[in-house]
Amino acid sequence: MQSEQRTGVWIFGALGSIATHVLAGTAAIRRGLAPRRGLVTDMAPLTTLDLPGLDNLVFGGHELRPDTDPLGAAREIASRRGGLTRELVDAVEPELIAVAADLRPGCRAGLGAWAASLGVDSPGDADPVAETARMRADILEFRARHGLDRVVAVNLASTEPVSAALLGSQATGWDSFLAAHGPDIPASVLFSAAALQAGCALVNFTPSPALDLAPIRALALAQGLPICGKDGKTGETLLKSVLGPMFFARNLRVLSWESFNLLGNRDGQVLAHEGNKKSKLAGKSDLLRNVFDYPFHGEVHIDYVPSLDDWKTAWNLIHFEGFLGTRMMLQFTWQGCDSALAAPLVLDLVRLADLALRRGESGPMLHTAAFFKAPLGQVPVDLAGQMALLAEYAKTA
Ligand SMILES: NC(=O)c1ccc[n+]([C@@H]2O[C@H](COP(=O)([O-])OP(=O)(O)OC[C@H]3O[C@@H](n4cnc5c(N)ncnc54)[C@H](O)[C@@H]3O)[C@@H](O)[C@H]2O)c1
Repeated sequence: MQSEQRTGVWIFGALGSIATHVLAGTAAIRRGLAPRRGLVTDMAPLTTLDLPGLDNLVFGGHELRPDTDPLGAAREIASRRGGLTRELVDAVEPELIAVAADLRPGCRAGLGAWAASLGVDSPGDADPVAETARMRADILEFRARHGLDRVVAVNLASTEPVSAALLGSQATGWDSFLAAHGPDIPASVLFSAAALQAGCALVNFTPSPALDLAPIRALALAQGLPICGKDGKTGETLLKSVLGPMFFARNLRVLSWESFNLLGNRDGQVLAHEGNKKSKLAGKSDLLRNVFDYPFHGEVHIDYVPSLDDWKTAWNLIHFEGFLGTRMMLQFTWQGCDSALAAPLVLDLVRLADLALRRGESGPMLHTAAFFKAPLGQVPVDLAGQMALLAEYAKTA
């Protein structure tokens, strides 16, 4: 059973690597050119839910990059041997050209010097109030132009730095927060407010802090809208949420868990900036600290290695102690195409957020915990417990 209504998907960071895999991948699936591999919502028991079909999604979004369009971004990925082939991109060229008409300029307020690596001149020079209003109007216009029933907003933009001053702000209402912190508020937070004011469900697939801020959560509740995040769990952290609980369950004491991540895409380029990297490291490090109730040595490292491009390589060394204090070791190397892992999860989250929006569910979507490194709310830390939440939700079909 699938809803026949039409849902808009408004992507913040619409020419990024994940966004481009979502756009090209959805078009390829619709044409029957590629399998739906990786979509969790295609699996029982979630198939009983009345989720929108991929044919019913209409894409648009905000993007800062001045140098390309959806077709150009897809060709660039294919030429670098990412998760898209040149044949597939050629086959979906009409869809990629068509979506260009639904792209609007990205948010030019709330950017740091790091945004220069995206090719943006004078980043952060725009007025945050005007940019928020403009983004809200862009989304409402998209919805009206296509006659959409609902719109799900998805943050797929570059990771932004976290500011302790913003996280500790006493302002609880959005207007007072904007007045108190205007120029210091990151672009994706302004986008999140605009999306909620426009009546969208909000998915934060990035480590950026929007959903950690009281005014954004209050806005979602006041508007009666569902939200979920943060930071998609696609590779190394997915393994940690399986292996960590396994060591704990077998009373094997972890002494050290060292993690090294190497990646060379634009995400990696932005993460080479210290402030931006700090946001990513927080989510990656917290998971294991929440699994074990004792201290262990463990550091997460992220390094930018341009030649690897989207083929993220993560090496982990786990030194642990068993019976009679016997010391043993597990090492793993994960080599995944980051965006090909992320794209189906984004589609899953869009489908689940659309259903929540249609049902009038508001606040954190606890059942989506399995999709995130740092999920909202009091939820289990292990993947099995998180998948059980999702299965429980499916009973509401
Ligand atoms: N790939 C994964 O497995 C994975 C997993 C979890 C989280 N993430 C996060 O998802 C996000 C996207 O990853 P990606 O690999 O597609 O990155 P990317 O760098 O290819 O794409 C990000 C896009 O956002 C755009 N952007 C940045 N600031 C903007 C603004 N103010 N307005 C509009 N557009 C803006 C950039 O121009 C770029 O096109 C990153 O934050 C990444 O950390 C990725």
